[in-house]
Amino acid sequence: MQPTKSITNKTFAEDVLDGLSDEPKHLSSKYFYDDEGSRLFQEIMKLPEYYLTRSEYEIFRKQTEEIYQAFDANKGEFDLIELGAGDGIKTSLLVDYFLKMDSRFSYVPIDISSEALNFLTDKFHREFPNLDIQTERGDYFKTLETFKERSDKRKVILFLGSNIGNFSAPQALEFFRHLHEVMNKNDSIFIGFDLHKNPKTILNAYDDSLNVTARFNLNLLKRMNRELGANFETDNFLHYASYHPTECAARSYLISQKDHDVFIEELGREFHFKKWEPIYMEVSQKYNLEMIEELASNSGFEIVQNFYDENRFYSNSLWKPA
Ligand code: AVI
Repeated sequence: MQPTKSITNKTFAEDVLDGLSDEPKHLSSKYFYDDEGSRLFQEIMKLPEYYLTRSEYEIFRKQTEEIYQAFDANKGEFDLIELGAGDGIKTSLLVDYFLKMDSRFSYVPIDISSEALNFLTDKFHREFPNLDIQTERGDYFKTLETFKERSDKRKVILFLGSNIGNFSAPQALEFFRHLHEVMNKNDSIFIGFDLHKNPKTILNAYDDSLNVTARFNLNLLKRMNRELGANFETDNFLHYASYHPTECAARSYLISQKDHDVFIEELGREFHFKKWEPIYMEVSQKYNLEMIEELASNSGFEIVQNFYDENRFYSNSLWKPA
């Protein structure tokens, strides 16, 4: 199997070594999405507590025409590039409408999971037999490098689902600055931001009553067992979610419930976990409008238009290079 590389070009094994050797221990949530993790994430998106997907879906369903106008589909042919495409359900609303409006575009879904990509292409081929689909499997950080050479066509980049929320503030800034470098002045990016709201609503989204989010986090331990020959016992850990309103950040941890050691064959090393020691797993950053504006201007973009759902839980923000 090809080692999974990150933006820093580190492999999964190297990132695990760094994270578990650090104090406090941490793992990167970008490794959540092996095929099993992607399946669990599909389950999360259907949970009653997980309002994010429904909010974004509502924006796409109720404001399709406005989004179409904002993308300015009359400007000629374009590539509709989706970073971390997943199941493409929301995007299919746009694709359907754009095709009805006779837009000329190719759809370029990029995802780390081949299972998710296969599912998506089968579905889109069935629903839209005339759509030109050019899938790319891989880490979207890496695929950014190929953007400049892709084609002369205008690019409309979709970065949906509040995926930006899983970046720390410096990572988000670095990501958009990097994106800015590989974009041309007529390109644009459409980003899904989860907005700040009642902290309890946010916390419940990451601490669901069916414990799917717990299984989603614990799957990363199982992934290390599968891919790195580790011997994690998931029953030794509990999932703990928190929300910090001053930072607008939801964070999740796996907490070791007892003193124990875990051996990771691929690293040839044993790691000790103290009773109640946390492993920091994920940040899900929430935004307010000022934070979105600041992020856009600090990375060289200007906001063209913001779209909101009726609850104002969520915003899709269209940016172009300033
Ligand atoms: C993919 N990402 C935006 C999700 C989120 O809301 O941060 C991942 C997730 N983690 C727990 N539940 C969902």
